[in-house]
Amino acid sequence: MKCFSIFIKDKSKKKKRESRTAPELRNQSKSDNSALSQTRTSSRSLPSPRSIPELYKEKEHNLRVFSLQELRDATHGFNKLLKIGEGGFGGVYKGSITPPNGRGDPIVVAIKKLNTQGLQGHKEWLAEVHFLGVVNHPNLVKLLGYCSIDGERGIHRLLVYEYMPNRSLEEHLFKRTPTLPWKTRLEIMLGAAQGLAYLHEGLEVKVIYRDFKSSNVLLDESFKPKLSDFGLAREGPTGDRTHVSTAVVGTYGYAAPEYVKTGHLTIQSDIWTFGVVLYEILTGRRAVERNRPALEQKLLDWVKEFPPDSKKFRLLMDPRLGNSYSFSAAQKVGKLANSCLNKNAKERPTMSEVVESLKQAIQEPGGSSSANKAPPLTPSSRNGGK
Ligand SMILES: Nc1ncnc2c1ncn2[C@@H]1O[C@H](COP(=O)(O)OP(=O)(O)OP(=O)(O)O)[C@@H](O)[C@H]1O
Ligand SMILES: [Mg+2]
Repeated sequence: MKCFSIFIKDKSKKKKRESRTAPELRNQSKSDNSALSQTRTSSRSLPSPRSIPELYKEKEHNLRVFSLQELRDATHGFNKLLKIGEGGFGGVYKGSITPPNGRGDPIVVAIKKLNTQGLQGHKEWLAEVHFLGVVNHPNLVKLLGYCSIDGERGIHRLLVYEYMPNRSLEEHLFKRTPTLPWKTRLEIMLGAAQGLAYLHEGLEVKVIYRDFKSSNVLLDESFKPKLSDFGLAREGPTGDRTHVSTAVVGTYGYAAPEYVKTGHLTIQSDIWTFGVVLYEILTGRRAVERNRPALEQKLLDWVKEFPPDSKKFRLLMDPRLGNSYSFSAAQKVGKLANSCLNKNAKERPTMSEVVESLKQAIQEPGGSSSANKAPPLTPSSRNGGK
């Protein structure tokens, strides 16, 4: 899915000869207040939390620096047959690399090759290296290394990740059969919530992820979720500040309304987008579906017709689940989604509260099995009972 964004054009000059570069951002706009451009001038008396670039300096040795040739070899010259995805910023290839010490079996990886037409591409690549170089959590994808080349024949920016064999939540919810069982949907959302809670609450700095959506929730061999794509992540506000101001970037249908309106980014913006994805797993519908009747195109407008406390609620449930889900757990998830989607950002739950609510929904009798099934749908009720 493509991002909407206001981007800065690349004004950087090409270097004359090809060289591998350290992950730094040159020609950075002074007005840009992103995490990457912030140099902390901490007061002598008050120790302030270290910034992501500072934390990165301590950990950068954990990342492997690849040559372009190594990654060409890993993907048989970026062979089309090895292409596993295409995002707004470039293609993703499956590849295999030699282990760091050169011994043992090859390691299967996913390699993202950025279209580096502009400074923005580099900026996002750099944010990804910095954030993923610092974070460490079972629900966040592992970055193994990167490649950064500035040469006469263009610049190259690549990222090498652990390979996630079950691809993304988006594929399983909307493209693949058989459909994801109810229990798996809840467990994926719980893992994703734990990853977000770690970003919001578990680090020295608060991290706003900003790009939560089903295509960025990757799934390992046992469907354990890991968040990917940190190109839009930002450090959260510090001290008395309530928000960071940014250009509005994100994916249509997911971003919080107050952020779209003002560009003021807060931790609560992530909670809103989490609410949108909760409705995606309940309904099996995407945040925006242009091929639906006008009133059903925007998921958040359509679901308003089916409040979680009403009997109508079961009409919004993904028909592919049949009756194999717990109605009471689904209602709990619907209520949780609505609280995440509170227009008043301050009233939204914190991510650790979301984690607790999801744990309770999973424990709901029948919440993790097909017992306590939903009442069957009659043909008239499927039409909205009208
Ligand atoms: N580490 C990985 N392992 C396996 N597949 C991956 C990995 N990373 C990405 N993919 C696949 O590549 C696809 C494209 O990923 P990418 O992040 O480039 O774009 P996107 O999330 O679909 O869209 P956007 O550019 O708007 O973020 C993913 O949806 C997923 O199927
Ligand atoms: Mg992505």
